Amino acid sequence: ADLFGPSRKNSAGIELGDAASLEALLAEIGRATAKPFPEAGAVIDGKPVAGNRRELRSPIDARPIGHVVEANEASAAQAVLAAKAGFPAWNATPARIRAAALRQAAELMEARRGPILALLQAEAGKTLDDAIAELREAVDFLRYYAAEAETKFAVPTALPGPTGEENRLVLRGRGPFICIAPWNFPLAIFVGQVAAALVTGNSVVAKPAPQTPLIASLAIAILHEAGVRKSALHLTPGDGKLGAALVSHPDVAGVAFTGSTATARAINRALAAKDGPIVPLIAETGGLNAMIVDATALAEQVADDVVMSAFRSAGQRCSALRLLVVQEDVADKMVEMIEGAASVLRLGDPREIETHVGPVIDAPAKQRLDTHIAAMQAQGRVAYAGTVPSLGGTFVAPHIIRLDKVSDLTAEHFGPVLHVVRWKAGELDKVIEAIEATGYGLTLGVHSRIETTVEHVTQKLSTGNIYVNRNIIGAVVGVQPFGGHGLSGTGPKAGGPNYLARFATEQTVTINT
Ligand code: SER
Repeated sequence: ADLFGPSRKNSAGIELGDAASLEALLAEIGRATAKPFPEAGAVIDGKPVAGNRRELRSPIDARPIGHVVEANEASAAQAVLAAKAGFPAWNATPARIRAAALRQAAELMEARRGPILALLQAEAGKTLDDAIAELREAVDFLRYYAAEAETKFAVPTALPGPTGEENRLVLRGRGPFICIAPWNFPLAIFVGQVAAALVTGNSVVAKPAPQTPLIASLAIAILHEAGVRKSALHLTPGDGKLGAALVSHPDVAGVAFTGSTATARAINRALAAKDGPIVPLIAETGGLNAMIVDATALAEQVADDVVMSAFRSAGQRCSALRLLVVQEDVADKMVEMIEGAASVLRLGDPREIETHVGPVIDAPAKQRLDTHIAAMQAQGRVAYAGTVPSLGGTFVAPHIIRLDKVSDLTAEHFGPVLHVVRWKAGELDKVIEAIEATGYGLTLGVHSRIETTVEHVTQKLSTGNIYVNRNIIGAVVGVQPFGGHGLSGTGPKAGGPNYLARFATEQTVTINT
Protein backbone atom coordinates (compact mmCIF):
# COMPACT_ATOMS: atom_id res chain seq x y z
CA ALA A 1 0.00 0.00 0.00
CA ASP A 2 2.73 2.44 0.92
CA LEU A 3 5.14 2.58 -2.01
CA PHE A 4 7.74 4.41 0.01
CA GLY A 5 7.86 2.03 2.91
CA PRO A 6 6.98 2.65 6.53
CA SER A 7 5.61 6.02 7.52
CA ARG A 8 8.53 8.27 8.17
CA LYS A 9 9.24 11.97 8.37
CA ASN A 10 12.20 13.87 6.98
CA SER A 11 14.11 16.11 9.37
CA ALA A 12 12.46 19.45 10.05
CA GLY A 13 15.74 21.23 9.24
CA ILE A 14 16.72 24.47 10.93
CA GLU A 15 14.56 27.60 10.84
CA LEU A 16 16.80 30.54 9.90
CA GLY A 17 13.99 33.08 9.87
CA ASP A 18 13.84 33.05 13.67
CA ALA A 19 16.49 35.41 15.12
CA ALA A 20 17.02 33.48 18.36
CA SER A 21 17.47 30.11 16.66
CA LEU A 22 19.82 31.64 14.06
CA GLU A 23 21.90 33.23 16.82
CA ALA A 24 22.14 29.93 18.70
CA LEU A 25 23.17 28.13 15.54
CA LEU A 26 25.84 30.71 14.64
CA ALA A 27 27.21 30.50 18.19
CA GLU A 28 27.54 26.71 17.87
CA ILE A 29 29.31 27.06 14.53
CA GLY A 30 31.53 29.79 16.00
CA ARG A 31 32.59 27.57 18.92
CA ALA A 32 33.50 24.76 16.52
CA THR A 33 35.48 27.10 14.28
CA ALA A 34 37.39 28.66 17.21
CA LYS A 35 39.43 25.52 17.86
CA PRO A 36 41.46 23.45 15.38
CA PHE A 37 39.48 20.78 13.52
CA PRO A 38 40.44 17.23 14.59
CA GLU A 39 42.96 15.57 12.27
CA ALA A 40 41.52 13.12 9.72
CA GLY A 41 43.14 9.82 8.97
CA ALA A 42 42.79 6.22 7.91
CA VAL A 43 40.96 4.15 10.54
CA ILE A 44 41.04 0.37 10.37
CA ASP A 45 39.31 -1.68 13.09
CA GLY A 46 38.86 1.58 14.98
CA LYS A 47 42.59 2.32 15.08
CA PRO A 48 44.52 5.07 13.30
CA VAL A 49 46.92 3.90 10.61
CA ALA A 50 50.22 5.62 9.74
CA GLY A 51 50.61 7.28 6.35
CA ASN A 52 51.51 10.45 4.51
CA ARG A 53 50.32 13.58 6.41
CA ARG A 54 48.92 16.31 4.18
CA GLU A 55 47.80 19.85 4.96
CA LEU A 56 44.29 20.91 3.93
CA ARG A 57 43.39 24.47 2.92
CA SER A 58 39.99 26.11 2.73
CA PRO A 59 38.58 26.96 -0.71
CA ILE A 60 37.26 30.19 0.86
CA ASP A 61 40.59 31.91 1.57
CA ALA A 62 43.33 29.28 1.12
CA ARG A 63 43.99 29.26 4.89
CA PRO A 64 45.15 25.95 6.46
CA ILE A 65 42.24 24.18 8.16
CA GLY A 66 43.77 20.89 9.26
CA HIS A 67 45.58 17.74 8.25
CA VAL A 68 44.80 14.31 6.88
CA VAL A 69 46.91 11.17 7.26
CA GLU A 70 46.21 9.32 4.03
CA ALA A 71 46.00 5.60 3.41
CA ASN A 72 48.41 3.97 0.96
CA GLU A 73 48.17 0.79 -1.08
CA ALA A 74 49.30 -1.37 1.84
CA SER A 75 46.71 0.12 4.19
CA ALA A 76 44.05 -0.22 1.45
CA ALA A 77 44.65 -3.97 1.34
CA GLN A 78 44.69 -4.07 5.15
CA ALA A 79 41.31 -2.27 5.23
CA VAL A 80 39.67 -4.68 2.75
CA LEU A 81 40.97 -7.69 4.70
CA ALA A 82 39.70 -6.15 7.96
CA ALA A 83 36.30 -5.62 6.28
CA LYS A 84 36.34 -9.24 5.13
CA ALA A 85 37.04 -10.41 8.68
CA GLY A 86 34.37 -8.08 10.10
CA PHE A 87 31.66 -9.03 7.60
CA PRO A 88 30.21 -12.27 9.06
CA ALA A 89 29.48 -10.83 12.51
CA TRP A 90 27.93 -7.65 11.10
CA ASN A 91 25.86 -9.56 8.52
CA ALA A 92 24.62 -11.81 11.34
CA THR A 93 23.64 -8.77 13.45
CA PRO A 94 19.84 -8.42 13.19
CA ALA A 95 18.81 -5.78 10.64
CA ARG A 96 16.80 -3.92 13.31
CA ILE A 97 20.00 -3.47 15.36
CA ARG A 98 21.91 -2.24 12.30
CA ALA A 99 19.01 0.14 11.60
CA ALA A 100 19.06 1.34 15.22
CA ALA A 101 22.71 2.32 14.78
CA LEU A 102 21.74 4.47 11.76
CA ARG A 103 18.96 6.12 13.73
CA GLN A 104 21.34 6.84 16.59
CA ALA A 105 23.86 8.32 14.12
CA ALA A 106 21.09 10.63 12.83
CA GLU A 107 20.45 11.82 16.40
CA LEU A 108 24.15 12.43 17.01
CA MET A 109 24.50 14.37 13.76
CA GLU A 110 21.63 16.64 14.67
CA ALA A 111 23.11 17.15 18.13
CA ARG A 112 26.55 17.99 16.69
CA ARG A 113 25.30 20.40 14.06
CA GLY A 114 27.84 23.08 15.11
CA PRO A 115 31.03 21.15 14.24
CA ILE A 116 29.40 19.54 11.18
CA LEU A 117 28.21 22.82 9.66
CA ALA A 118 31.53 24.50 10.51
CA LEU A 119 33.39 21.80 8.60
CA LEU A 120 31.00 21.84 5.62
CA GLN A 121 31.73 25.55 5.35
CA ALA A 122 35.50 25.54 5.97
CA GLU A 123 36.38 22.37 4.07
CA ALA A 124 33.81 22.35 1.24
CA GLY A 125 33.11 26.10 1.03
CA LYS A 126 29.34 25.66 1.54
CA THR A 127 26.97 28.52 2.25
CA LEU A 128 24.99 28.20 5.46
CA ASP A 129 21.84 27.29 3.51
CA ASP A 130 23.65 24.58 1.58
CA ALA A 131 25.41 23.24 4.68
CA ILE A 132 22.12 23.01 6.58
CA ALA A 133 20.42 21.30 3.62
CA GLU A 134 23.28 18.84 3.40
CA LEU A 135 23.19 17.94 7.09
CA ARG A 136 19.46 17.47 6.77
CA GLU A 137 19.90 15.20 3.74
CA ALA A 138 22.46 13.05 5.58
CA VAL A 139 20.09 12.66 8.53
CA ASP A 140 17.21 11.85 6.17
CA PHE A 141 19.26 9.17 4.39
CA LEU A 142 20.12 7.56 7.74
CA ARG A 143 16.49 7.41 8.87
CA TYR A 144 15.11 6.46 5.46
CA TYR A 145 17.49 3.54 4.98
CA ALA A 146 16.93 2.47 8.59
CA ALA A 147 13.16 2.35 7.97
CA GLU A 148 13.63 0.56 4.65
CA ALA A 149 15.87 -2.08 6.22
CA GLU A 150 13.48 -2.65 9.12
CA THR A 151 10.74 -3.64 6.70
CA LYS A 152 12.69 -5.32 3.90
CA PHE A 153 15.67 -6.89 5.69
CA ALA A 154 14.52 -7.60 9.24
CA VAL A 155 11.97 -10.25 8.32
CA PRO A 156 12.01 -12.66 5.37
CA THR A 157 9.26 -12.17 2.80
CA ALA A 158 6.86 -15.13 2.83
CA LEU A 159 5.95 -16.25 -0.71
CA PRO A 160 2.90 -18.23 -1.78
CA GLY A 161 3.40 -21.87 -2.79
CA PRO A 162 1.61 -25.22 -2.86
CA THR A 163 0.36 -26.81 0.36
CA GLY A 164 3.15 -28.61 2.15
CA GLU A 165 5.77 -26.15 1.00
CA GLU A 166 7.04 -22.99 2.69
CA ASN A 167 8.83 -20.37 0.59
CA ARG A 168 10.65 -17.31 1.75
CA LEU A 169 12.89 -14.67 0.25
CA VAL A 170 15.75 -13.38 2.37
CA LEU A 171 17.99 -10.39 1.66
CA ARG A 172 21.59 -10.62 2.93
CA GLY A 173 24.75 -8.56 2.78
CA ARG A 174 27.25 -9.27 0.01
CA GLY A 175 30.55 -8.75 1.84
CA PRO A 176 33.14 -5.96 1.88
CA PHE A 177 31.75 -2.93 0.02
CA ILE A 178 33.93 -0.06 -1.21
CA CYS A 179 32.15 3.31 -0.97
CA ILE A 180 33.77 6.15 -2.91
CA ALA A 181 32.19 9.57 -2.37
CA PRO A 182 32.50 12.96 -4.08
CA TRP A 183 33.50 16.30 -2.53
CA ASN A 184 30.31 18.12 -3.59
CA PHE A 185 28.20 16.33 -0.95
CA PRO A 186 30.98 15.25 1.41
CA LEU A 187 28.51 14.45 4.19
CA ALA A 188 25.17 13.54 2.56
CA ILE A 189 26.39 11.33 -0.29
CA PHE A 190 29.25 9.91 1.80
CA VAL A 191 26.86 8.97 4.62
CA GLY A 192 24.12 7.83 2.22
CA GLN A 193 26.36 5.27 0.50
CA VAL A 194 27.91 4.01 3.72
CA ALA A 195 24.56 3.79 5.54
CA ALA A 196 22.94 1.83 2.70
CA ALA A 197 25.83 -0.63 2.51
CA LEU A 198 25.98 -1.11 6.28
CA VAL A 199 22.29 -1.46 7.03
CA THR A 200 21.99 -4.23 4.42
CA GLY A 201 24.67 -6.25 6.23
CA ASN A 202 27.81 -5.40 4.27
CA SER A 203 31.05 -4.30 5.84
CA VAL A 204 32.46 -1.09 4.39
CA VAL A 205 35.72 0.52 3.39
CA ALA A 206 34.88 4.19 2.79
CA LYS A 207 37.06 6.47 0.69
CA PRO A 208 36.08 10.16 0.82
CA ALA A 209 37.17 12.61 -1.86
CA PRO A 210 40.72 13.93 -1.33
CA GLN A 211 39.31 17.44 -0.83
CA THR A 212 36.98 16.54 2.06
CA PRO A 213 38.44 13.98 4.49
CA LEU A 214 37.77 16.01 7.67
CA ILE A 215 34.00 15.86 7.37
CA ALA A 216 34.22 12.17 6.43
CA SER A 217 36.30 11.41 9.52
CA LEU A 218 33.74 13.08 11.73
CA ALA A 219 30.92 11.07 10.09
CA ILE A 220 32.78 7.77 10.60
CA ALA A 221 33.46 8.60 14.26
CA ILE A 222 29.73 9.29 14.73
CA LEU A 223 28.71 6.02 13.03
CA HIS A 224 31.10 4.06 15.27
CA GLU A 225 29.83 5.87 18.36
CA ALA A 226 26.25 5.13 17.26
CA GLY A 227 26.85 1.40 17.35
CA VAL A 228 28.33 0.34 14.01
CA ARG A 229 30.98 -2.28 14.79
CA LYS A 230 34.51 -0.99 14.26
CA SER A 231 35.32 -4.22 12.41
CA ALA A 232 32.49 -3.45 9.94
CA LEU A 233 33.41 0.13 9.00
CA HIS A 234 36.85 1.33 7.96
CA LEU A 235 38.01 4.67 6.56
CA THR A 236 40.75 5.14 3.98
CA PRO A 237 41.22 8.75 2.84
CA GLY A 238 43.28 9.16 -0.32
CA ASP A 239 43.28 9.98 -4.00
CA GLY A 240 42.15 8.16 -7.16
CA LYS A 241 45.13 5.81 -7.09
CA LEU A 242 44.03 4.61 -3.68
CA GLY A 243 40.48 4.17 -5.02
CA ALA A 244 41.87 2.03 -7.85
CA ALA A 245 43.80 -0.12 -5.36
CA LEU A 246 40.67 -0.60 -3.25
CA VAL A 247 38.32 -1.66 -6.05
CA SER A 248 40.93 -3.97 -7.59
CA HIS A 249 41.33 -5.97 -4.39
CA PRO A 250 40.17 -9.60 -4.90
CA ASP A 251 38.01 -9.65 -1.75
CA VAL A 252 35.75 -6.75 -2.71
CA ALA A 253 32.07 -7.77 -3.01
CA GLY A 254 30.57 -4.50 -4.26
CA VAL A 255 31.35 -0.88 -5.10
CA ALA A 256 29.23 2.24 -4.62
CA PHE A 257 30.70 5.23 -6.43
CA THR A 258 29.58 8.81 -7.02
CA GLY A 259 31.74 11.01 -9.23
CA SER A 260 32.69 11.40 -12.87
CA THR A 261 31.53 9.17 -15.71
CA ALA A 262 35.20 8.60 -16.66
CA THR A 263 36.06 7.28 -13.19
CA ALA A 264 32.95 5.08 -13.11
CA ARG A 265 34.14 3.55 -16.41
CA ALA A 266 37.63 2.98 -14.98
CA ILE A 267 36.12 1.24 -11.94
CA ASN A 268 33.90 -0.88 -14.19
CA ARG A 269 36.94 -1.96 -16.21
CA ALA A 270 38.94 -2.74 -13.05
CA LEU A 271 36.09 -4.88 -11.71
CA ALA A 272 35.68 -6.66 -15.05
CA ALA A 273 39.40 -7.46 -15.21
CA LYS A 274 39.33 -9.40 -11.93
CA ASP A 275 38.99 -13.15 -11.69
CA GLY A 276 36.44 -14.54 -9.30
CA PRO A 277 32.88 -13.37 -8.64
CA ILE A 278 31.21 -10.70 -10.78
CA VAL A 279 31.24 -7.60 -8.59
CA PRO A 280 28.33 -5.13 -8.85
CA LEU A 281 28.94 -1.40 -9.30
CA ILE A 282 26.41 1.21 -8.21
CA ALA A 283 27.49 4.44 -9.93
CA GLU A 284 26.02 7.93 -9.86
CA THR A 285 27.82 10.16 -12.32
CA GLY A 286 27.42 13.43 -14.20
CA GLY A 287 24.86 15.12 -16.39
CA LEU A 288 24.37 17.66 -19.15
CA ASN A 289 21.20 18.83 -17.44
CA ALA A 290 18.87 20.90 -19.59
CA MET A 291 15.80 23.02 -19.01
CA ILE A 292 13.31 23.40 -21.85
CA VAL A 293 11.41 26.70 -21.75
CA ASP A 294 8.60 27.58 -24.15
CA ALA A 295 6.88 30.87 -24.92
CA THR A 296 4.08 30.24 -22.41
CA ALA A 297 6.41 29.96 -19.39
CA LEU A 298 6.20 32.51 -16.58
CA ALA A 299 9.30 34.65 -17.10
CA GLU A 300 9.86 35.70 -13.45
CA GLN A 301 9.56 32.14 -12.26
CA VAL A 302 11.91 30.88 -14.98
CA ALA A 303 14.50 33.51 -13.98
CA ASP A 304 14.36 32.48 -10.30
CA ASP A 305 14.47 28.77 -11.07
CA VAL A 306 17.32 29.11 -13.57
CA VAL A 307 19.47 31.15 -11.20
CA MET A 308 18.75 28.73 -8.37
CA SER A 309 19.49 25.66 -10.52
CA ALA A 310 22.57 26.97 -12.35
CA PHE A 311 24.35 29.23 -9.88
CA ARG A 312 23.41 28.35 -6.30
CA SER A 313 25.81 25.87 -4.68
CA ALA A 314 28.26 27.49 -7.16
CA GLY A 315 26.80 25.11 -9.77
CA GLN A 316 28.54 22.22 -8.03
CA ARG A 317 25.62 19.81 -7.87
CA CYS A 318 25.33 16.87 -10.23
CA SER A 319 21.74 18.02 -10.65
CA ALA A 320 22.69 21.62 -11.59
CA LEU A 321 21.41 23.24 -14.75
CA ARG A 322 24.02 23.38 -17.53
CA LEU A 323 21.90 24.15 -20.59
CA LEU A 324 18.89 26.42 -20.92
CA VAL A 325 16.95 25.67 -24.09
CA VAL A 326 14.56 28.54 -24.62
CA GLN A 327 12.04 29.29 -27.37
CA GLU A 328 13.36 32.02 -29.64
CA ASP A 329 10.32 34.35 -29.34
CA VAL A 330 10.92 34.88 -25.61
CA ALA A 331 14.67 34.23 -25.38
CA ASP A 332 15.89 37.85 -25.19
CA LYS A 333 13.44 38.73 -22.47
CA MET A 334 14.15 35.56 -20.49
CA VAL A 335 17.93 35.93 -20.67
CA GLU A 336 17.68 39.57 -19.65
CA MET A 337 15.61 38.62 -16.61
CA ILE A 338 18.01 35.81 -15.72
CA GLU A 339 20.92 38.26 -15.93
CA GLY A 340 19.01 40.62 -13.66
CA ALA A 341 18.39 37.86 -11.12
CA ALA A 342 22.03 36.70 -11.35
CA SER A 343 23.38 40.22 -10.85
CA VAL A 344 21.88 40.45 -7.35
CA LEU A 345 23.51 37.23 -6.17
CA ARG A 346 26.10 37.92 -3.49
CA LEU A 347 29.35 36.11 -4.10
CA GLY A 348 31.74 35.83 -1.23
CA ASP A 349 32.64 34.24 2.06
CA PRO A 350 30.01 31.51 2.52
CA ARG A 351 30.30 31.85 6.31
CA GLU A 352 28.52 35.20 6.03
CA ILE A 353 24.82 34.48 5.95
CA GLU A 354 24.07 37.04 3.21
CA THR A 355 26.25 35.09 0.75
CA HIS A 356 24.45 33.20 -2.03
CA VAL A 357 27.43 31.78 -3.94
CA GLY A 358 30.66 30.54 -2.36
CA PRO A 359 33.89 29.29 -3.94
CA VAL A 360 34.38 26.27 -6.17
CA ILE A 361 36.12 23.39 -4.47
CA ASP A 362 39.80 23.90 -5.37
CA ALA A 363 42.34 25.47 -7.73
CA PRO A 364 42.19 22.73 -10.41
CA ALA A 365 38.37 23.08 -10.53
CA LYS A 366 38.68 26.85 -10.90
CA GLN A 367 41.36 26.41 -13.56
CA ARG A 368 39.14 24.09 -15.65
CA LEU A 369 36.20 26.49 -15.46
CA ASP A 370 38.35 29.56 -16.20
CA THR A 371 39.80 27.81 -19.25
CA HIS A 372 36.33 27.03 -20.60
CA ILE A 373 35.11 30.58 -19.97
CA ALA A 374 38.21 32.04 -21.69
CA ALA A 375 37.64 29.82 -24.75
CA MET A 376 34.01 30.96 -24.94
CA GLN A 377 35.10 34.58 -24.47
CA ALA A 378 37.51 34.23 -27.38
CA GLN A 379 34.58 33.15 -29.55
CA GLY A 380 32.50 36.11 -28.35
CA ARG A 381 29.97 33.83 -26.67
CA VAL A 382 29.90 35.24 -23.14
CA ALA A 383 26.56 36.99 -22.61
CA TYR A 384 26.97 37.66 -18.89
CA ALA A 385 29.81 37.56 -16.40
CA GLY A 386 29.50 38.23 -12.67
CA THR A 387 32.37 39.52 -10.56
CA VAL A 388 34.51 37.55 -8.13
CA PRO A 389 35.55 38.67 -4.64
CA SER A 390 39.25 39.00 -3.83
CA LEU A 391 39.45 36.74 -0.79
CA GLY A 392 42.31 34.57 -1.99
CA GLY A 393 39.98 31.59 -2.43
CA THR A 394 38.91 29.69 -5.53
CA PHE A 395 35.97 31.77 -6.74
CA VAL A 396 34.36 31.58 -10.18
CA ALA A 397 31.67 34.15 -10.99
CA PRO A 398 28.39 33.09 -12.57
CA HIS A 399 28.57 33.18 -16.38
CA ILE A 400 26.01 32.86 -19.16
CA ILE A 401 27.30 31.54 -22.48
CA ARG A 402 25.49 31.52 -25.82
CA LEU A 403 25.69 28.34 -27.89
CA ASP A 404 24.21 27.66 -31.33
CA LYS A 405 22.82 24.20 -30.68
CA VAL A 406 22.40 21.59 -27.95
CA SER A 407 25.19 19.40 -29.34
CA ASP A 408 27.70 22.27 -28.91
CA LEU A 409 27.78 21.46 -25.19
CA THR A 410 30.05 18.44 -25.13
CA ALA A 411 31.29 18.33 -21.54
CA GLU A 412 29.93 18.86 -18.04
CA HIS A 413 31.41 22.12 -16.72
CA PHE A 414 31.05 21.64 -12.98
CA GLY A 415 30.50 25.18 -11.75
CA PRO A 416 28.34 28.31 -12.08
CA VAL A 417 28.38 28.39 -15.89
CA LEU A 418 25.07 28.34 -17.76
CA HIS A 419 24.83 27.74 -21.52
CA VAL A 420 21.86 29.00 -23.51
CA VAL A 421 20.49 27.67 -26.80
CA ARG A 422 17.43 28.98 -28.65
CA TRP A 423 14.83 26.91 -30.47
CA LYS A 424 12.28 27.92 -33.08
CA ALA A 425 8.56 27.26 -32.68
CA GLY A 426 7.80 23.90 -34.31
CA GLU A 427 11.26 22.49 -33.54
CA LEU A 428 10.64 21.14 -30.06
CA ASP A 429 11.13 17.54 -31.19
CA LYS A 430 14.56 18.38 -32.59
CA VAL A 431 15.51 19.82 -29.21
CA ILE A 432 14.20 16.75 -27.39
CA GLU A 433 16.16 14.44 -29.70
CA ALA A 434 19.34 16.46 -29.23
CA ILE A 435 19.02 16.32 -25.44
CA GLU A 436 18.36 12.56 -25.50
CA ALA A 437 21.32 12.14 -27.88
CA THR A 438 23.78 13.52 -25.31
CA GLY A 439 23.53 10.10 -23.66
CA TYR A 440 23.22 11.66 -20.20
CA GLY A 441 20.00 11.38 -18.22
CA LEU A 442 20.19 12.92 -14.77
CA THR A 443 17.94 15.98 -14.35
CA LEU A 444 15.69 17.92 -16.71
CA GLY A 445 13.55 21.00 -16.28
CA VAL A 446 10.44 21.91 -18.25
CA HIS A 447 8.80 25.32 -18.04
CA SER A 448 5.52 25.50 -19.95
CA ARG A 449 1.90 26.19 -19.16
CA ILE A 450 0.68 23.87 -21.91
CA GLU A 451 -0.18 20.53 -20.36
CA THR A 452 0.24 18.59 -23.59
CA THR A 453 3.74 20.04 -24.09
CA VAL A 454 4.76 18.99 -20.59
CA GLU A 455 3.29 15.54 -21.20
CA HIS A 456 5.07 15.25 -24.57
CA VAL A 457 8.50 16.26 -23.19
CA THR A 458 8.30 13.97 -20.16
CA GLN A 459 7.17 11.06 -22.36
CA LYS A 460 9.89 11.54 -24.97
CA LEU A 461 12.85 12.14 -22.66
CA SER A 462 14.13 9.32 -20.48
CA THR A 463 15.92 11.59 -17.97
CA GLY A 464 16.01 10.24 -14.40
CA ASN A 465 14.64 13.26 -12.53
CA ILE A 466 12.27 15.64 -14.34
CA TYR A 467 11.07 18.85 -12.69
CA VAL A 468 8.16 20.79 -14.19
CA ASN A 469 7.70 24.53 -13.58
CA ARG A 470 10.24 24.65 -10.74
CA ASN A 471 13.99 24.49 -10.12
CA ILE A 472 15.84 21.24 -10.80
CA ILE A 473 18.04 20.83 -7.71
CA GLY A 474 17.72 19.55 -4.17
CA ALA A 475 16.01 16.17 -4.50
CA VAL A 476 14.45 15.22 -1.16
CA VAL A 477 15.04 11.76 0.34
CA GLY A 478 12.00 9.52 -0.07
CA VAL A 479 10.18 12.23 -2.03
CA GLN A 480 12.28 12.59 -5.18
CA PRO A 481 14.43 9.43 -5.38
CA PHE A 482 17.53 10.67 -7.19
CA GLY A 483 19.72 9.32 -9.97
CA GLY A 484 20.11 8.96 -13.70
CA HIS A 485 20.94 6.40 -16.33
CA GLY A 486 23.17 6.05 -19.38
CA LEU A 487 26.23 8.27 -18.98
CA SER A 488 24.69 9.54 -15.72
CA GLY A 489 24.86 6.28 -13.80
CA THR A 490 23.65 2.78 -13.20
CA GLY A 491 20.80 3.40 -10.77
CA PRO A 492 19.12 2.50 -8.47
CA LYS A 493 18.01 5.87 -7.17
CA ALA A 494 19.42 7.13 -3.88
CA GLY A 495 16.72 7.89 -1.32
CA GLY A 496 14.27 5.64 -3.15
CA PRO A 497 12.54 2.32 -2.40
CA ASN A 498 14.76 0.28 -4.74
CA TYR A 499 18.15 1.46 -3.49
CA LEU A 500 18.91 -1.01 -0.71
CA ALA A 501 18.15 -4.19 -2.62
CA ARG A 502 21.10 -3.57 -4.97
CA PHE A 503 23.48 -3.72 -2.01
CA ALA A 504 22.22 -7.19 -1.09
CA THR A 505 22.09 -10.74 -2.34
CA GLU A 506 18.76 -12.52 -2.47
CA GLN A 507 18.24 -16.00 -1.09
CA THR A 508 15.14 -18.06 -1.69
CA VAL A 509 14.54 -20.80 0.86
CA THR A 510 12.01 -23.54 0.06
CA ILE A 511 11.08 -25.95 2.83
CA ASN A 512 9.11 -29.13 2.25
CA THR A 513 7.00 -29.23 5.44
N1 SER B 1 20.80 15.16 -4.79
C1 SER B 1 21.38 16.38 -5.26
C2 SER B 1 20.33 17.29 -5.85
O1 SER B 1 19.25 16.84 -6.13
C3 SER B 1 22.44 16.01 -6.26
O2 SER B 1 23.29 16.91 -6.69
O3 SER B 1 20.59 18.43 -6.03
